[in-house]
Amino acid sequence: GMKRRPVVAIDGPAGAGKSTLAAHLARTFGFVNLETGAMYRALALKAIESDLDFDEEGPLLALVGDTRIGLEPQRDGNRVMLDGMDVSRRIRDTDVTQAASRISVHPHLRAWMVDLQRAMGSQGGVVMEGRDIGTAVFPDAEVKIFLDADPAVRGNRRYRQATPSPTITEEAILKELKERDQRDRNRAESPLRPAEDAVILDSTALTLDEVLAKAEEIVRTHLPG
Ligand code: DC
Repeated sequence: GMKRRPVVAIDGPAGAGKSTLAAHLARTFGFVNLETGAMYRALALKAIESDLDFDEEGPLLALVGDTRIGLEPQRDGNRVMLDGMDVSRRIRDTDVTQAASRISVHPHLRAWMVDLQRAMGSQGGVVMEGRDIGTAVFPDAEVKIFLDADPAVRGNRRYRQATPSPTITEEAILKELKERDQRDRNRAESPLRPAEDAVILDSTALTLDEVLAKAEEIVRTHLPG
């Protein structure tokens, strides 16, 4: 059959700037961007609303059976649909963020997500962003970028993006981010790590424009044709 169009895989820890980069590369190369973290977040929201224990896989899997998660690519990111409802904003709240990291340790739940993500990207022409895209979802992706940065820098960026509030401190954001890093890197199933053939892009000492320019260069050199 026809060979699919290319896949650009972007992985890395929380707060490294993956979503901004994915949206930019998608615009630049005429691809569609798919934010897989939003899918874990959407399911986590449903788990919260259903009062489930995040540590028990069985009930979470039962929930998955009648859950519809959709990503609608927009210019600046994804609109996220859960059972027909737009949950794009709600899934960014701290409770959902932590729950997403916790439910994502379960292997069968991950297998369901990976199947869905492969189906979404089956035609190629996508920039898919997450934790395991280059290692598990599309191990044959044409381009793999692992976007990293020092935790303190990621925490500071997150803090400056956060809606100002007297209850949100930079320290609290950094603590939450480190907890999530720990869990995402140390889980047994598809832990966060660079694929062997990924290009590692460390943004600690780079401006946003420099990161975008370097990533464009990486994509250009790896795309066929
Ligand atoms: O990218 P994000 O911060 O929106 O992701 C939220 C959580 O979802 C993250 O802490 C771990 C999980 N996740 C995952 O396990 N695999 C992915 N491909 C994407 C996200």
